[in-house]
Amino acid sequence: MSSRLDGRIGVVIGGGSGMGRAISHRLAEEGVKVYVADLNGEAAEAVAKEIEQRGGRAVPVQVDATSVAELRALYARIEAEDGVLHIVHNQVGMPGAGGLDVSEEEFQRNIDVNVKSVFYSATLAFDLLKRAGKKASITMTASTSALVGSPFSPVYSLTKSALVGFTRALALVGAPDGIRVNCIAPGTVHTPMLASFFGRERGADVSALTKEFVAGIPLGRGAQPEEIASVVAFLASDDASFVTGVTVPIDGGLTAK
Ligand SMILES: NC(=O)c1ccc[n+]([C@@H]2O[C@H](COP(=O)([O-])OP(=O)(O)OC[C@H]3O[C@@H](n4cnc5c(N)ncnc54)[C@H](O)[C@@H]3O)[C@@H](O)[C@H]2O)c1
Repeated sequence: MSSRLDGRIGVVIGGGSGMGRAISHRLAEEGVKVYVADLNGEAAEAVAKEIEQRGGRAVPVQVDATSVAELRALYARIEAEDGVLHIVHNQVGMPGAGGLDVSEEEFQRNIDVNVKSVFYSATLAFDLLKRAGKKASITMTASTSALVGSPFSPVYSLTKSALVGFTRALALVGAPDGIRVNCIAPGTVHTPMLASFFGRERGADVSALTKEFVAGIPLGRGAQPEEIASVVAFLASDDASFVTGVTVPIDGGLTAK
């Protein structure tokens, strides 16, 4: 039986862990040859190996997504090997510095990781995506903190809400070439990064803070990474062929309150 993404070429940037790992697996299960790109080269290799062991196709690549030169090299490699790209998903991001007393260094780092990496990973892929026969999809990762303010890290809300506006703009640029551009806004997701959102303050009781936050989620729990991956696979597929320029909350009802 054929799968809905059979024969497509995709890249998951930040694919070595958590949601990016689950998204790499899900896309591969649906027929995509996945370039698993990550700053952590060993993690990328491990995920690519898991995919191949399950019968999928994957290529690990070590990439620092804050480096324009390294992103250019990633797309040059995909061009040389496949000549086309259908799916770009960017998962890269970091918790913002807490509070208002943010050093210029921390501020710049947050901008580089949460904004610069997303801008260039999407725009540098355009030429390859134009060759996808109007079946191309870009997805980027914001957060519920883009839709409601984060009192813990205003700079996180600043960087993540920038992606919501960028998604709309890029969707307009991509539309004539059939490149759809969408954004996901996960709430609380059980990944290795989750603890660092609650561990900003020295001595914070991460487990108690997480429990308290999760209790306020209407569905009463955090998400598993696979519940994010299924939405990204939908957005990448022809099932979402008329969906572009939107940000989809995946938050168990958090922003419905
Ligand atoms: N976990 C959550 O609850 C949650 C909620 C909302 C949004 N997010 C967003 O999801 C993303 C994190 O995903 P996760 O929770 O699965 O985290 P994770 O830590 O499990 O995975 C992040 C991956 O990104 C890679 N990475 C980091 N910097 C990179 C860079 N410069 N270049 C290439 N790869 C890089 C890491 O090596 C790691 O493999 C961030 O954008 C974060 O803002 C997370």
